[in-house]
Amino acid sequence: MLTAFVKSWPRLWATDRASKHRRYSCPHLAKPLSFAAALTGDLQKSMSLADVMRTPIVAGNWKMNGSIASVDALIQGLVSSEDLECELLVCPPTVFLSQVRDRLIAKKRGSVIVLGAQDVSQHEAGAHTGEVSADMLSECGCRYTLIGHSERRQFHAESDINVAAKVERSLTAGIRPIVCVGETLEERQNGYTLSVVERQLDAVGEMISAEDWGRFDVAYEPVWAIGNGESASPEQAQEVHEALRSALQKNGDQNGTTRILYGGSVNQDNADALFEMADIDGALVGGASLVAESFLSIAASAAVRSTRSRAG
Ligand code: PGA
Repeated sequence: MLTAFVKSWPRLWATDRASKHRRYSCPHLAKPLSFAAALTGDLQKSMSLADVMRTPIVAGNWKMNGSIASVDALIQGLVSSEDLECELLVCPPTVFLSQVRDRLIAKKRGSVIVLGAQDVSQHEAGAHTGEVSADMLSECGCRYTLIGHSERRQFHAESDINVAAKVERSLTAGIRPIVCVGETLEERQNGYTLSVVERQLDAVGEMISAEDWGRFDVAYEPVWAIGNGESASPEQAQEVHEALRSALQKNGDQNGTTRILYGGSVNQDNADALFEMADIDGALVGGASLVAESFLSIAASAAVRSTRSRAG
């Protein structure tokens, strides 16, 4: 029980002192959880769909970058941030997960900046050399994992079925997947954008159970916009996000709680315009997440979105 609580601690951050019983809340929850609910561990199970709001999320995908020293420097820059009305997620290379977790805890920022992995094994355990299981990631403090990034699909031959199996495995381990979908330039030019992303989402839907809708997020990352400074326009992104939103709702996310992140050359100059779009709930950031200042600036743009949606 204690282990489960320690694993879930990064999500527990605000205390409502006026309440008779001590209660805890996190940016994802409309209603606070009782301490007992938190102590019994599985926060994800205690969230009904209606409890979950679409808190903006800005996720940093560090890819295969960094060293022990540069990771320390980056964390130092990130922990100096003010509290923002947006969830901040960092996805370092696996070997740095424990280091990042320990630094965040030491700086008392583990509740503000959460930890995620870049990938996860579809297998539970055993003879899978080089793989890292969802349970291992969970034990390291990961609350999220990216799944099906286009670099995994393209260069590591991950199929829609592999991606779906990884989603299922992560959900079982209590890790919230961020499922990456997106078309290549050729697919876009041939008019297949929406059918590609819907096929990628459908594959996940076929493997999960009905109650798992709403327990993962989606990142739309057009392959042609990744890593080259040429983001999709806000309108191009919105068109796909809107289609994904209706596919999600049709399939099982009836309350519209799944966040849809946009990824592909997001930076501090284009973030405001992207977050103006109705269905862009967050960003998956590669290059710009390696510099604390630009990552936090993108997060500040997402927080403005949060304030705006509460106001209106
Ligand atoms: P980028 O990468 O921001 O460097 O384009 C995004 C990603 O691949 O997740």
